[in-house]
Amino acid sequence: MENTVVYTNMNYLPVSKDSLNQAAQILRNGGLVAFPTETVYGLGADAFNAAALAKIFEAKNRPHFDPLIIHIASLDTLEKVADLSILTNETRQKIFTLAENLWPGPLSIILPKNKKIPGIATAGLETAAVRLPDHETARELISLSTGAVAAPSANPFGSLSPTRAEHVRDKLGDKIDMILDGGATRIGLESTVIDITGDSNSASVKILRPGGTPKEAIEKLIGQVEDGAPVSDVSGGLVSPGQLKSHYAPHTPITALNKEEIIKKAYEKDSAFLFFDDQSKNAWILAQKPPKNAILRVLSETGRILEAASRFFETLHELDNGKILRIFVQLAPQEGLGIAINDRISHASTKK
Ligand code: TXA
Ligand code: MG
Repeated sequence: MENTVVYTNMNYLPVSKDSLNQAAQILRNGGLVAFPTETVYGLGADAFNAAALAKIFEAKNRPHFDPLIIHIASLDTLEKVADLSILTNETRQKIFTLAENLWPGPLSIILPKNKKIPGIATAGLETAAVRLPDHETARELISLSTGAVAAPSANPFGSLSPTRAEHVRDKLGDKIDMILDGGATRIGLESTVIDITGDSNSASVKILRPGGTPKEAIEKLIGQVEDGAPVSDVSGGLVSPGQLKSHYAPHTPITALNKEEIIKKAYEKDSAFLFFDDQSKNAWILAQKPPKNAILRVLSETGRILEAASRFFETLHELDNGKILRIFVQLAPQEGLGIAINDRISHASTKK
């Protein structure tokens, strides 16, 4: 399905030394650049520049109470964005264990923020989510700019996350200064967000958003981790507002079904069926005898969770074309990245 992209717009550019330099310049000047990471495309602004950060909320039409993830390019810059001095030695040790083993990678760690990070980046919270992405282009861009780039996913608020530069162009193209096209993202789901700051006062370490780093990988390193439901902080705000119910939703209504349910689900005209693997699809075809033109998609023919995750948003973007009345989506096995896929399915399916 690779189509040849024709770059007619000066601001929609393939990744190159030149475009990276231009993009870094835009960031330094307070502009917005969409760039690839291993998870999804980010909409970046200089993390130290409040006016630039405000543009992110404007472009995304994002409520100001939703804090951004600060991206860094090396562990050396961690202290420029976070203030680890107020944490206990034990918590600091856990943070370094996570950082050394899982960075670069799809893990955002909530840390006390450095004063230099303006409040608008963190929605007034005293903490900031920090991530070191596993993507050369992202890291180069960050290094060439001020060393810290705040970036939410590059989609309008509440809609599907972008896994290709084209997704960004189609939804936000006229609102940002440059889009760096680095092709499809490898993981295709956002990072796992973990809160370790409660560790010192007996509270536990919590996963606020399941994502590209499986819980098991974290527990292997630092012991048991809780699944954080969307909880309120003292000011009444959501601790991880990304867990708002209508997040990640396409326009088309979605019905989530487990394997047994989807196999029993009768074909409906003008609907699409998104299966986890070929085996489920074939069982359904055998049971329901759908018409030849039924719209069927499979996330991973052989049922590989990584492949399924990487195709999830992309397939929903494709099916969310206004012609389909409902999408029936099969839940993934509830393990590893399957937990993150199911989280996205359930958020998408509660909208309407
Ligand atoms: O993979 C990703 O994380 C992508 C790429 C671009 O890095 N970014 C991304 O950002 O998904 P965004 O803004 O769409 O999601 C950030 C999530 C939200 O759920 C937000 O509420 C949570 O992180 N978050 C950010 N800062 C936080 C904080 N200080 N405390 C609690 N949650 C926070
Ligand atoms: Mg997002």
